[in-house]
Amino acid sequence: MLYVTFIDPSENEIEANFEPGDSLLQAAVHAGVDGILAECGGGCSCATCHVILSSAWAGTLEPPGPQEADMLTFAVDPTPQSRLACQVQLKTEHNGLTLNVAKRQY
Ligand code: FES
Repeated sequence: MLYVTFIDPSENEIEANFEPGDSLLQAAVHAGVDGILAECGGGCSCATCHVILSSAWAGTLEPPGPQEADMLTFAVDPTPQSRLACQVQLKTEHNGLTLNVAKRQY
């Protein structure tokens, strides 16, 4: 079973199963991860699905597209490892990926 680990704002670690092609947001929602609001429902227009890739996995995801990069400027305290969970498509090689959910979404 493929999984990613989310660390929620209360520092709880939640393993979320995924199928290749799922988004990080889909994996988080199915696993009941706290702290991701996703107010636009995955439409890349709210920046409230902000997650931060752990440094050990830096460079393993496709870089953000122009729309995601633009919307990330509206996230709270974005970092170079910040992503919008709705815009990241998971692949088999992402098995074991670890991400922190942003402490604040707005
Ligand atoms: S859910 Fe709104 S930008 Fe991801």
